Amino acid sequence: MASKIVNMRVNGRDEALVVSSLTTLQDVLRDKLDYTSVKDGCSQGGCGSCSVIIDGELRLSCLTPVQEVHGSEVTTLEGLNQSNSITALQSQFIEKYAAQCGFCTPGMMVAIKALLDKNPSPSRDEISEALAGNICRCTGYLPIIEAVESVVAEMSGAAGD
Ligand code: FES
Ligand code: FES
Repeated sequence: MASKIVNMRVNGRDEALVVSSLTTLQDVLRDKLDYTSVKDGCSQGGCGSCSVIIDGELRLSCLTPVQEVHGSEVTTLEGLNQSNSITALQSQFIEKYAAQCGFCTPGMMVAIKALLDKNPSPSRDEISEALAGNICRCTGYLPIIEAVESVVAEMSGAAGD
């Protein structure tokens, strides 16, 4: 199994790691770098709990070989904790009872942040579409979508981040 040095920037920090060709970005983020907001719901691309942003694009870290991320900028939920939209989203998730066990919530937050970065005023359909890959077994999806709509309403007219 060929090993390689991978350099990447994670949440604003430069990292250099020796990894095998089978190592996923999810393995590295959780087990080597301790970013435990990256969950492991299925390990096979079916739940969205491992979502991260790579060079501005939403990606599933369980399906991403870490060797492919060499030279990239990776952001997990830990890297978004200064973001106004994430803070507003956390409040609205509480307000709307949009999280129960919370296992899906970090991936949802990352997916919503990726959406709002590209489209600050998404419609309900666009929000649903953006969250289509994120499975929640607790709440149903309406409270989650309503929480995002409240954040969009709150941030419209104000400077976002
Ligand atoms: S753990 Fe990656 S999609 Fe489920
Ligand atoms: S809050 Fe439990 S899976 Fe979403």
